[in-house]
Amino acid sequence: MSLFRTKSVEQSIADTDEPEFRLKKSLTAVDLTVFGVGVVIGAGIFTLTGRAAHDVAGPAVVISFIIAAIACGLAAMCYAEFASTVPVSGSAYTFSYASLGELFAWIIGWDLILEMFLGASVVAQGWSAYLGTFLQQIGIVLPEAISYGGVVDLPAILLVLVLGGLMTLGIKESLRVNLVLVAVKLFIVLFVIIAGIMFINPANYTPFVPQSVPTESTSGLTQPLLQFLSGLEPATFGVGGILAGAALVFFAYIGFDVVATTAEETKRPQRDLPIGIIASLVICTILYCAVAVVVTGMVPYSELNPSAALANAFAFHGQTWMATVIAAGAVAGLTTVVLTLMIGATRIIFAMSRDRLLPGGLAKVHPRFRTPWVISLLVTVIVAVVAGLTPIGVLEEMVNIGTLSAFVLVSIGVLVLRRKRPDLKRGFRVPLSPVLPILSALICTYLMLNLSVETWLRFLIWLALGFAIYFAYSRRNSRLGTGEFLAPRVVAPPKE
Ligand code: ALA
Repeated sequence: MSLFRTKSVEQSIADTDEPEFRLKKSLTAVDLTVFGVGVVIGAGIFTLTGRAAHDVAGPAVVISFIIAAIACGLAAMCYAEFASTVPVSGSAYTFSYASLGELFAWIIGWDLILEMFLGASVVAQGWSAYLGTFLQQIGIVLPEAISYGGVVDLPAILLVLVLGGLMTLGIKESLRVNLVLVAVKLFIVLFVIIAGIMFINPANYTPFVPQSVPTESTSGLTQPLLQFLSGLEPATFGVGGILAGAALVFFAYIGFDVVATTAEETKRPQRDLPIGIIASLVICTILYCAVAVVVTGMVPYSELNPSAALANAFAFHGQTWMATVIAAGAVAGLTTVVLTLMIGATRIIFAMSRDRLLPGGLAKVHPRFRTPWVISLLVTVIVAVVAGLTPIGVLEEMVNIGTLSAFVLVSIGVLVLRRKRPDLKRGFRVPLSPVLPILSALICTYLMLNLSVETWLRFLIWLALGFAIYFAYSRRNSRLGTGEFLAPRVVAPPKE
């Protein structure tokens, strides 16, 4: 049987109507935008802005943010087209099943699992770190062994368990909590921008693009793959630094794609998904660029704190109470990111087990809450263990490479589906196709090449594991492979 067998779009939509797998449809465009902003603004802006400016890009980190935003904007359009054509849970995974075939769908699903599991764990640890900073500022010190960086990261574990419970009770309920936390987070980011303007010293913007300097700190496995392949001297700053910065701060944008995983729970997916995806990306891009300009204006880039730049920029100017407010806001803000990534992870696994690429028993929906409770439990336990017991916090580049690879495949998938199924109703179409989808794939690939050699090695190991599971289990059990999809059945018309 062909590796490139595809599952028809009609089949994907019909699956969502099977009673035992049916999810509650309650979300609107505004819900999705809030959901998007809730997952996107997180550890990236609160920590990576400082690190990227300090280590590789200087004040030009704002250009890194713009480059990453262009890559995401192009990919977002491809996601929006797909989501408005195939409004089914599972995001890029489902899209590629309909266009590129089962093997690619599996790889994308596997990459998305990497993105969301690891992303949730990384951000849960970031949350715990900020909680520690906040508590310290108000005079409470947690025992070292049970706080961030200790033997067991207890706050991170408790956070994940509470969020897991919320997630199982129902997506609408979790989104209500999300709404409050997103409001707090937006307030804090706006606070940084508005309050920070007063402390800007224009001299900090010179040099805007610091000269490229040879460095030992990024050599060997830690240098970008592109630098390694081209045999150039290991260096930071300069134009190369801006690009490496873009590949790093890309993390800050991750999440808008998770909006597409809630397609089945959206009332009018063909209209609301494109709005939700694109609106959340636009809002975040504007805020990020403003924060980057303000923070690098407040503190000389070489003195920015690489782990908590936003709060520390205010402490730098003696405004400790502002630093405390920002740390508290970060705690609230990062909570929503962890929650949304966990919801995204359950929805991907849900889609994959419904197709039997993963065991089908996982996909059972709770009779009362109408949420996939078995998967929710599994995701909660795994994220809690990883975030609580492993030093995962340094692996955000792995999250980036997983996401970027999914973006590349989605961009190509849009073109393939247009060729294969020009007849399908598309609520949104990427303009200037095929130019923009191709550009999207190229820019995302280029950003991947700017990630470190060690990240690539880890990613290849992850892929090898994925292939092993696919050929040992998924291929044989796949509903598409076993012919279960071929049985005569009533195909529900697409909603709207
Ligand atoms: N974009 C999310 C964050 O920055 C993953 O935390």
